[in-house]
Amino acid sequence: MPHTNRRVFLRQYREGLPLLEDFGIEDVEITSVPEGHALVRVDTLSMDAWIRTTLTPGSFHETADLGSTIRALGVGQVVESASDALVVGDWVFGPLSAQTHALMPAAALTKLDLSNSLQPRDFVGPLGLTTGLTAWVGLIAVAEVKAGDVVLVSGAAGAVGSMVVQLAKAHGARVIGIAGGPEKGRFVTEKLGADYAIDYKAGHVDAELRAAAPGGIDVFFDNVGGELLDIALDNLAPANARIAICGAISQYSDLGNVRGPRLYLRLAERNAMMKGFVVTHYAARFGEAKAEIAALMRDGKVNLPEHVVEGIDHFAEALLMLFAGGHTGNLLVQP
Ligand SMILES: NC(=O)c1ccc[n+]([C@@H]2O[C@H](COP(=O)([O-])OP(=O)(O)OC[C@H]3O[C@@H](n4cnc5c(N)ncnc54)[C@H](OP(=O)(O)O)[C@@H]3O)[C@@H](O)[C@H]2O)c1
Repeated sequence: MPHTNRRVFLRQYREGLPLLEDFGIEDVEITSVPEGHALVRVDTLSMDAWIRTTLTPGSFHETADLGSTIRALGVGQVVESASDALVVGDWVFGPLSAQTHALMPAAALTKLDLSNSLQPRDFVGPLGLTTGLTAWVGLIAVAEVKAGDVVLVSGAAGAVGSMVVQLAKAHGARVIGIAGGPEKGRFVTEKLGADYAIDYKAGHVDAELRAAAPGGIDVFFDNVGGELLDIALDNLAPANARIAICGAISQYSDLGNVRGPRLYLRLAERNAMMKGFVVTHYAARFGEAKAEIAALMRDGKVNLPEHVVEGIDHFAEALLMLFAGGHTGNLLVQP
């Protein structure tokens, strides 16, 4: 004590894509830790699409107040504690936000179990709420993937998509990943093990999908929405396909004007199902999910490549990168 906290805050709201000038950075002194609280040195922050939606009024994830620290999930280490629940040196996960030091109620933090050689970073990676657990919930709990299924994944080179590809392969599916550009396509097939990759930026998704999956797709795990969702609907297997709506990153710039699925009648025509999900609604199954993912990590069947941005001053750039597609795998910020 005292500690200097460097934080990134919201300066102004903007319609459409935020600009760097919409964010401010400042140092603030933390001089005491109130009863029941802990001071955490932030180690790694997960760059998630939901953060973007908090920057405009009317957000589903609760709009950030002007001047407030940008919200983000992360892992860190306790450096001071005024709570019986945590001691100095404990590693924790929680809503640590875009800053170097988080002063928080201990009740908002989850102590990490680092047994079995797990690393703190795994809890914003393969075992992270908004990465591995989201992929597991959408693919296994919602879409009920099974061996022999043809699984299509959009945003396949991103954090959730990378996990979906590997989990689907581990469950015996044939996997087709959609990603932007040939380099990401190679990442999806060569690094993640998908059977086929489609470059949506080349503009022939429908024709390529028809050729790659002539019998149709059994599962569509959608991270992107918009036109890709219609193409997937039109390519569903003749019966019993499942679509898991994880997100729609192509639509987050204009949430008041979301492009809905034009071909939704394919659901009726092909006896198919489409279901959205929020990962936190499946907390009762997180134990099962973590055990399965940890076992696959030990067997070398799941590995989530990282793209790490160093320095809290680059947090806003990293957030914008998420929407420009400038990363592959899991985008993280190390303050
Ligand atoms: N339902 C839940 O509980 C839950 C929880 C966590 C995350 N999510 C959702 O999961 C999705 C993936 O999140 P993530 O954190 O793993 O992000 P990510 O996939 O690592 O990064 C986003 C990727 O989306 C692609 N993209 C961006 N704009 C696009 C557009 N207009 N059209 C097509 N692709 C576009 C980019 O890849 P390309 O270079 O390939 O374009 C970018 O790399 C998001 O939709 C997020 O909201 C949902």
